[in-house]
Amino acid sequence: MGGGYRIAVIGGDGIGPEVTDAALSVLDAAEQRFAFTTERTALPWSAQAYIQGQRVTPEMIEPLRAYDAILLGAIGHPDAPRGLPEHDIIFGLRRGLDLYVNLRPIVLYDDRLTPLRGRTTKDIDLVIVRENTEDVYGRPVARTGEGTADEAVTSEMIFTRRGTERIVRYAFELARRRPRKHLTLVDKSNALLLQEIYRSVFAEVARDFPDVETDAMYVDAASMWLVLHPERFDVIVTTNLFGDIISDLGAAVVGGLGSGASGNIHPGKVSVFEPIHGSAPKYTGQGVASPVGAIGAVGLMLEHVGEHAAAKAVDAALREGFRSGRIKGLDTGSGRTMEVTDAVTRAVRERVPPGG
Ligand code: IPM
Ligand code: MG
Repeated sequence: MGGGYRIAVIGGDGIGPEVTDAALSVLDAAEQRFAFTTERTALPWSAQAYIQGQRVTPEMIEPLRAYDAILLGAIGHPDAPRGLPEHDIIFGLRRGLDLYVNLRPIVLYDDRLTPLRGRTTKDIDLVIVRENTEDVYGRPVARTGEGTADEAVTSEMIFTRRGTERIVRYAFELARRRPRKHLTLVDKSNALLLQEIYRSVFAEVARDFPDVETDAMYVDAASMWLVLHPERFDVIVTTNLFGDIISDLGAAVVGGLGSGASGNIHPGKVSVFEPIHGSAPKYTGQGVASPVGAIGAVGLMLEHVGEHAAAKAVDAALREGFRSGRIKGLDTGSGRTMEVTDAVTRAVRERVPPGG
């Protein structure tokens, strides 16, 4: 606490830079209020730069280990070859820095934001812990019989015991710190037989956490329950691919992608914090993008570096913004980026966070 932190900032593409700027204003306010400082270095990495031939290589990722945290806006451009900038930058960071946890809190900031009838902030408060380095994600493709009727493509789906155990353990530790102490494993081990490794590792690790209540669900059923009975969930641990899918579903039940923030985390090491929305090219530069996800990402970053009071203040400021109506909604276009930013910034400067 009270330290100086080195932050790398990758604004990225589309609305990424503007929501990142908004989030940095909130960070400025938090610094003034809680007496710490940051030194920020901007990195010009983006899909746009990729199109112009500027690739991000593993050698460029390595030096980021010297930072305390990385803030990312969004990567993606309609003219870039599909998936390639994401591969270099997003998977480059996740795998290069071994950020094995993708932490995605699903928080309903205000009752009126959920599309689920009759649900309130008490019903939806969960965290998705997505494994972030393994699975079938971003794997090379092998191709046979190209151009013939027998053409086939394959990619490997990989789960290691080490990779599975560390994510499951992280999720148990997190569940233990939350009031409900409940953890749900989400997989598809009835159809993807290799995912039995998740079931067995989960059962093994559970023995070290007798205070945490557990259950397990297949991902199809979990998707249904997230909509019908979101109150069933506290912490969810799942694989990379399923975590990607159910986190958008989770974002939808709290009002849309605009609210979501995520941390790509290696506990105790430099980690990457980002909104979960994309670059939304058609809204670029109009000042209408919701900065709520990016501001939430700053909150997660503050928690990660140990500025707990500042993290609480950011969260409280967002809630207060929705409660008071100063933040009107989450959809792009539902408010001006600056209006929302000013409201949150002011609240961080002025309000005493609960328990902070
Ligand atoms: C996410 C995104 C990425 C992912 C894409 C952009 C590769 O959807 O962070 O959820 O699939 O992990
Ligand atoms: Mg996704």
